[in-house]
Amino acid sequence: MVCLGNICRSPLAEGILDHKARQQGLPWRVDSAGTGSWHIGQGPDPRSVATAKAHGIDITGQRARQLKRVDLEKFDLVLAMDGQNYRDILSLSEDEDDRNKVHMIMEFAYPGKRESVPDPYWDDNGFERVFEMLDSACDAIVNKLSKADQGG
Ligand code: 4NP
Repeated sequence: MVCLGNICRSPLAEGILDHKARQQGLPWRVDSAGTGSWHIGQGPDPRSVATAKAHGIDITGQRARQLKRVDLEKFDLVLAMDGQNYRDILSLSEDEDDRNKVHMIMEFAYPGKRESVPDPYWDDNGFERVFEMLDSACDAIVNKLSKADQGG
């Protein structure tokens, strides 16, 4: 899960997908990172923490880190929150295998639409909407990929 700062959107995305995968007994490793370096080592934004908590998810243990090229090797899927994240991730890629792993997260819920998850950093009221978008995306991801994991 990749956004700009790794303190607002991608920590929520990590928390939501990790929560759903655990509920389904899926042995997935879910992680998040930012394309930028400003917030390295910081915990998630308090507004993301509160929004996750209101939905029964604890993200306080997360710490921001910056996306590295090796992440494109280590992970099967690298999901961008918006178009700028998508382009920044691709600029780290070195080959077709890297590039094939990169997707816009909302494509799972709305195939072909290339919808962005809006940056809520400057909008105190944007966090619940972001949560709901990511929740629907993560439902679609679990739905699609848990079947793929089972060979379906
Ligand atoms: P995020 O939000 O990319 O969803 O973590 C942001 C966090 C910090 C900044 C921008 C966006 N910033 O400019 O510091």
